[in-house]
Amino acid sequence: MTHLFDKAISKRKHLLSSNTNALRLIDGLGDGVADHFLETYADRWVISTRTDQIHPQLKAWLKEQNRSIYWKQLHQSQKTSPSHYAGDPVPEPFLARENGVNYKVSFQAGYSQGIFLDQRENRQQVRELCTESTTVLNTFAYTGAFSVCAALGGATTTTLDLSQPYLDWAKENFHANQLDPSQHYFCKGDTFHWLKRFARQGRLFDGIILDPPTFSRDQKGKVFRAEKDYHSLVELAMQCLAPNGWILASTNCHKMNLREFQTEALTSTRRAVQVTINSMPEEYTGEQYLKSLWLRPS
Ligand SMILES: C[S@@+](CC[C@H](N)C(=O)[O-])C[C@H]1O[C@@H](n2cnc3c(N)ncnc32)[C@H](O)[C@@H]1O
Repeated sequence: MTHLFDKAISKRKHLLSSNTNALRLIDGLGDGVADHFLETYADRWVISTRTDQIHPQLKAWLKEQNRSIYWKQLHQSQKTSPSHYAGDPVPEPFLARENGVNYKVSFQAGYSQGIFLDQRENRQQVRELCTESTTVLNTFAYTGAFSVCAALGGATTTTLDLSQPYLDWAKENFHANQLDPSQHYFCKGDTFHWLKRFARQGRLFDGIILDPPTFSRDQKGKVFRAEKDYHSLVELAMQCLAPNGWILASTNCHKMNLREFQTEALTSTRRAVQVTINSMPEEYTGEQYLKSLWLRPS
């Protein structure tokens, strides 16, 4: 079985370069090993498993690799940072690169490492769509990876997240790419509240990015479930969209397939909307869990 792992890596060799050193290397059943996923971040590896133990053959193969490896258990109820598994512990934080863009990565900052690698193509597309006159609102922004790409494309960005530490991390990602965060906007707070506020103020954006958690509860206890409530988010975003604008709507909600997501996202819109579907990056050979729609109301 170990040859499967070498094969998985060599299948992805063409995607790795001095411009891109962060990538999924093994994608579960897509590479013949269910429930196991391997990602590289500038040569440091994270193995993620839905199981309590790493598959014995993968374990043996990992031990032979002679590099820094961390282990993340995906089914844990307490979502903690990956634990050190093999090789030298990694000095933290460090920079990883994707399409020539730098991102600060940390294996000790919590459950996620600072960048969701499955959004690579959407990030690149955002960058290509932007010019110096574009304004982009990145909601649920996490560490601002989409904002950095939009800003590198020339856009003026507004980065919105509930978490101040993530907004600070986003500013560090701007600095890591020679972008001045003081030329951009950073808003702490709830996306739903801010979208309503922007709509009231008549503030419009040429591009809006929606990538919410599958489930969340706001301070007043109001629940958002992607499979039932995504349309309300799209509707609010439409009210803040400039003429000829676009919305990138993404979800990794397992309870909807792509068609159901499209139906849910557009349930309450009365406008004609041109929809383009983006598939996952090519190294995601397993489950196509990330669904992405580019929406352009006419
Ligand atoms: C899945 S991550 C988004 C990933 C991000 N789009 C990216 O590609 O890097 C979810 C983020 O949403 C933020 N968040 C959760 N609920 C929120 C809300 N109601 N308003 C604003 N941000 C929220 C969390 O703090 C977290 O950073």
